[in-house]
Amino acid sequence: MYDEIVAVTENRPLTGGHFLLSVRSPRQAPATRPGQFAMIRILGRADVLLRRPMSIYDVKPANSPGRKKGAAKAPEVMEFLYKVVGRGTQLMADLKAGERVGLLAPLGHGFFAEEYLTQAEAADEILHVAGGIGIAALLLPARELARQGFRQRLFFGGRTKADLVGVEDFKPLVSRSVLATEDGSRGHQGFVTKPLEDYLARCRKKRFLLVVCGPWAMLEASVRLARRYGHPCLVSMENRMGCGLGVCLGCSIRVEGTGHGSYQRVCTEGPVFWAEKVVWERESIPKT
Ligand SMILES: Cc1cc2nc3c(=O)[nH]c(=O)nc-3n(C[C@H](O)[C@H](O)[C@H](O)COP(=O)(O)OP(=O)(O)OC[C@H]3O[C@@H](n4cnc5c(N)ncnc54)[C@H](O)[C@@H]3O)c2cc1C
Ligand code: FES
Repeated sequence: MYDEIVAVTENRPLTGGHFLLSVRSPRQAPATRPGQFAMIRILGRADVLLRRPMSIYDVKPANSPGRKKGAAKAPEVMEFLYKVVGRGTQLMADLKAGERVGLLAPLGHGFFAEEYLTQAEAADEILHVAGGIGIAALLLPARELARQGFRQRLFFGGRTKADLVGVEDFKPLVSRSVLATEDGSRGHQGFVTKPLEDYLARCRKKRFLLVVCGPWAMLEASVRLARRYGHPCLVSMENRMGCGLGVCLGCSIRVEGTGHGSYQRVCTEGPVFWAEKVVWERESIPKT
């Protein structure tokens, strides 16, 4: 993990108040594992002191025309897919190429603990389930799983079609993308958990691993489905964060266990957890 000041190379507006921020980060990009995140600090702003957590959407080699043919292409650019929701993300949206930001990265455990891969190997297909900007946590894991030859399918839901950003990036990695919007402007009308449930019900003999990221209600609904149909489920949690370093305890969630063991920090023990380990206390999920 490195705490650096890095240069913005591009900050491209997408649909629905989403942006793709690229920064040149030759030390942090190659150190990134799929499923990790970064804390971004807007420099010189006394009104936004806390860093903002962002999933590392992608890491890429720099687009340098001077590179020799055949030379190793280590990633040097880190990309963040984000949605403007408040003061910090609005300031991010105002960033221009050449400006600088503070970047603490890479943080958290990625998706590739040994036990995750064991479950992936036992599955016939891996189902990525994304709600809104939760999609940003899933591209690097999907790419790594595709590289390892796993069959994958994406279920992606948003309020409207403008929220379905990044679908094109998943195309080469998944056998199918199933889209849903609440207003019916693209894909199935309603929540994405409906086509997910239809698929689970249709393929009862198959074994799946669900990998889910999105708003709390969508996580809960997906966890409930995974439980009902008997599939293991990983969740990438996006709790509000203070330090991102395991110090402030602001991101703690309740997990199965007692005493100190009944809390874990999303920033250090996560952001990826087995769904069955998390205590879903805002609305308890029946065990059956
Ligand atoms: C590990 C992790 C990865 C994340 N990855 C991404 C990402 O890739 N792209 C992206 O756009 N966002 C991501 N987020 C959420 C992002 O950090 C927040 O949207 C951002 O911090 C909001 O800052 P703000 O100053 O613009 O909003 P604020 O002014 O702080 O808040 C504006 C509104 O957004 C809500 N909000 C703030 N933080 C969160 C949060 N963590 N979850 C849900 N609602 C929140 C507030 O309750 C409030 O309603 C991630 C969060 C975590 C913890
Ligand atoms: S954000 Fe401070 S402990 Fe996790």
